[in-house]
Amino acid sequence: MDVDKRLEELKSRLKIRPIEWLEDGRVRWLDVRLIPWEEVYRETRDYRRLAQAIRDMEIRGAPAIGVAAAFGMALAAYHSRASTVEELLAELEKAAEVLRDTRPTAYNLFWAIDRVLRAAREAARSASSPSEVKDAVVLEAKKIMLEDIEANMAMGRIGAKLVQDGDRILTHCNTGALATAGYGTALGVIRAAVEEGKEVHVIATETRPLLQGARLTVWELVKEGIDVTLITDNMVGYVMSKGLVDKVFVGADRITVDGYVANKIGTYTIAVVAHRHGIPFYVVAPTSTIDPNLRGPGIPIEERSPDEVRTVLGKLVITVPEVKVYNPAFDVTPPELVTAIITEEGIAVRPFEVSIPRMLESKRKRVEGKEG
Ligand code: MRU
Repeated sequence: MDVDKRLEELKSRLKIRPIEWLEDGRVRWLDVRLIPWEEVYRETRDYRRLAQAIRDMEIRGAPAIGVAAAFGMALAAYHSRASTVEELLAELEKAAEVLRDTRPTAYNLFWAIDRVLRAAREAARSASSPSEVKDAVVLEAKKIMLEDIEANMAMGRIGAKLVQDGDRILTHCNTGALATAGYGTALGVIRAAVEEGKEVHVIATETRPLLQGARLTVWELVKEGIDVTLITDNMVGYVMSKGLVDKVFVGADRITVDGYVANKIGTYTIAVVAHRHGIPFYVVAPTSTIDPNLRGPGIPIEERSPDEVRTVLGKLVITVPEVKVYNPAFDVTPPELVTAIITEEGIAVRPFEVSIPRMLESKRKRVEGKEG
């Protein structure tokens, strides 16, 4: 397969391109901290700058973080002055360490870095010069981006089958093009349903403290003319009790093999209330979000700066400045509250400890079949 050709073809179908590799060794991304006010693209040749962009959430959303980390590894390889393959591998290990130390919950970050490192080591076995390893690293990063777009489009097609004409869908945080290499996970399902001609009404939660719902989800949907109503996070119970929600679709930052789902803080509350009202609660995420080594609720949860809670986006101070703050960025929804998990491989239902490993196995076979 010609990765560049396929990537160009897919990118031409995207309305929003949040991140890109430029052939002269630069990465360009949309700084989502400034959306919806300004559309500012940033560029770098330095993997450390890209790590900073992930940490500061210029790039955010688990799949986008994974793609950015892969491109960070590609920058480290492309600009390396290593004179031997061993030296280059050591530099890549160092870059991996810097990139890993950015956001602890999104599994895609670790998955992407490990995958690029594996490709580098594999190429190093037969490489006669560092440039062969560099090429292998850049190619693997592009493949990660390509596969993310393909996975999003596949999840859209699969998930759209669960959407009926006229559905009122509640979603949390931002799971759209701005959270992925393009198209989106939960928002990708909504996009696909609309593309199929279904009428969909979206209820977007604002998503305090960083307002990904109010800023990003609303921006994406309004841009595409998809009907959206914004509510604050604390309105979810009332809105559901009034019968105004048919389904919930959210994304994930990490899913364990037995179906625990880490996602943006507030997701668990939504799942509990959805359960109380008998509303289906769907999680949409690529298999790169599934941590094959983790079971149970003990997913590492990122805690962010107290100032995110004390202020509105660092601008307006909304409390007594010295107040103590607790600011976990994610929570964990247990499997019993999850109706189904939609991945690019299909729809997993409970018991997830059976369906998720089966899904991962079918992906492994499919990938091996393609390669072999
Ligand atoms: O802190 P963020 O904005 O990176 O959190 C993002 C989310 O929680 C998303 O729901 C998740 O990454 C899925 S995105 C397709």
